[in-house]
Amino acid sequence: MTWSIKQGDSRTLLKSVPDRSIDLVVMDPPYGHNQTDGDLASHIKRALGDKDAPIHSRPIANDGPEANDLMRGILPDLDRVLKGGGCAVCCCSGGGGPDPQFARWSLWLDEIFDFKHAVVWDKGPMGLGWHYRRSYEFVLVATKRGGPCRWHDESGKVENIIRPGDFGIRKIIPQATDHPTPKPWQLAARFIGLHSLPGDTVLDPFAGHGWVGEAAVRLERHFLGFEIDEAFCAMARRKIELAASMQGLYTAFAVHKIRPPRGLFDKEMT
Ligand SMILES: C[S@@+](CC[C@H](N)C(=O)[O-])C[C@H]1O[C@@H](n2cnc3c(N)ncnc32)[C@H](O)[C@@H]1O
Repeated sequence: MTWSIKQGDSRTLLKSVPDRSIDLVVMDPPYGHNQTDGDLASHIKRALGDKDAPIHSRPIANDGPEANDLMRGILPDLDRVLKGGGCAVCCCSGGGGPDPQFARWSLWLDEIFDFKHAVVWDKGPMGLGWHYRRSYEFVLVATKRGGPCRWHDESGKVENIIRPGDFGIRKIIPQATDHPTPKPWQLAARFIGLHSLPGDTVLDPFAGHGWVGEAAVRLERHFLGFEIDEAFCAMARRKIELAASMQGLYTAFAVHKIRPPRGLFDKEMT
């Protein structure tokens, strides 16, 4: 399998991707929440009761109001590069305001693609806090127009809710040295498994620390990722390289139908 993380602005980098060359897009754009939302590491002392402790925010690019334009602006190119039946899978914040982003992004996807579903990712209890706690996020799924959505499930039991612990998806509490908004690779793997096959090519235009890339190489897909921040590119490359180097092991366990010791790979991959 091949993989690549390119450093730069996805709006520019996407222009060099040939038409109809990508089987699946999985992405987690900046939500426009101004960098610290959900990042416990940045306000851990306050969370533990020290109300005057400084907040060490770790900004990510384009995470203010410009996030909306960024997300909407790349949709035509994502449509251009996707093959027929290909899907765009887009993480999106849950139901909270002030911007009803889940509604806006769904409608924007539906302007270019056929909107398919808003899957709920239930992250589990968030503990005490103000008003409605943000326990879930949406994962919006849209299909390239003109054909049926690629769908690779034979169970007939795929629900539109991912519950805590499903598919090995674990809650990640970011450490100060991590990406500020890390998502678990198992979440990407769930959608990669449903909407593509081994040997296909997966694109992530907001690669962060490489969560989609890791899932793609583990599932034997080719991967192309764009990330504007050089430090995050380095994190992503390390993560994907490690996953790729362990690919032989995953395959050996699968071929011989041996269940790997519980937690073995996850422990080494986090
Ligand atoms: C919400 S984070 C994705 C984090 C990812 N889920 C992970 O687990 O690492 C969005 C990422 O998009 C990157 N980004 C923002 N604007 C970008 C742009 N125009 N082109 C490429 N990457 C961009 C940010 O640096 C950030 O890493």
